[in-house]
Amino acid sequence: MAAKISTKSALIVFLAVLSISQCCYGKLEFGSYKETCPNVENIVFKVVKEGFIKDPSVAPAMIRLYFHDCFSNGCDASLLLDGTSSEKKATPNLSVRGYELLDDIKTALENDCHGVVSCADIIALATRDLVTLASGEKTRYEIPTGRLDGRESTALSVDLPSPQLSVSQTAAMFAKRKLSVDDMVLLLGGHTIGVAHCSFIKDRLYNFKNTNKPDPSMDPKLVQELRGKCPEKSSTDGIINLDQDFSSSNIVDVSFYKQINSSRGILQIDQELANDGMTKKMVTDLAKGNDFLARFGQAMVNLGSVGVKDEQNGEIRRSCRSCNNLFCTK
Ligand code: HEM
Repeated sequence: MAAKISTKSALIVFLAVLSISQCCYGKLEFGSYKETCPNVENIVFKVVKEGFIKDPSVAPAMIRLYFHDCFSNGCDASLLLDGTSSEKKATPNLSVRGYELLDDIKTALENDCHGVVSCADIIALATRDLVTLASGEKTRYEIPTGRLDGRESTALSVDLPSPQLSVSQTAAMFAKRKLSVDDMVLLLGGHTIGVAHCSFIKDRLYNFKNTNKPDPSMDPKLVQELRGKCPEKSSTDGIINLDQDFSSSNIVDVSFYKQINSSRGILQIDQELANDGMTKKMVTDLAKGNDFLARFGQAMVNLGSVGVKDEQNGEIRRSCRSCNNLFCTK
């Protein structure tokens, strides 16, 4: 009898765990809008696809926006709030783009199901769709929803890593958000697409750590190529591709890891991933294997669960640019 009961209880526990693992992700849930806004994913994809066709560079822009929003104060769309000293005014956010596409998606969703879908979920869904489109539809990950929009956004609270930090310092910042070293290596694979301003790498090209020499970890041929695009003395801040394989610099794929394995990383932190003992084996394995796209998707889901708000500190905003209550902090 005792054996029967324990088998039965074990089965119940097993089924409960199974249903949780298929249903929810922290406070988030797959298909959380299926009753309240069943068309949400189709509407987001339609608007995103139109935006991507008009300007494919919205893909890297949105991937970066998602990272900057989630990393500072959680995935709560606090980066979207307009204000004289809101998050978008912080220095690392000044070159963040993608706000207009998010406004278009919000308008389309408000027309279909008013006051239901949060701006934080719109960012997560739009980013997922842009990863799909920019991979040439080679990947698509499911992303749980149910995020609420934050009511606080201050430039002073923005806490993002600088490209000059070491791998262990960067890993510590990820760990604070419950993101593992593996998540960090995979998420930095986001630098498979998009651009960086010359100002972020001039030290690597001309005066690395005040040596008056270039960064010795950069392929000397690449140093020469990049010096051509980023002259030491220039009145403008040029841009260069983060993925130096020109056949794939606009495609989400594994080539970022191949580039850094050949000393052709652009940002200092990118290159350090391939050189640091903590991460180099993973980089080599990713560069050789064919599972980057699926693993990147899982890491993006993990990033999307950072600091999700509850009813006490979150809401469904009417406009992504302002919170519902006039007295929110920004
Ligand atoms: C240690 C962490 C990171 C650092 C230090 C970092 C730094 C940077 C810098 C300096 C730029 C260039 C910005 C500019 O010139 O305007 C950039 C661009 C970008 N970052 Fe990161 N990043 C980090 C992590 C991530 C992660 C985790 C993702 C993706 C989930 C990501 C996605 C991107 C993308 C897609 C761009 C290109 C944006 C565009 O073309 O508009 N970054 N990043």
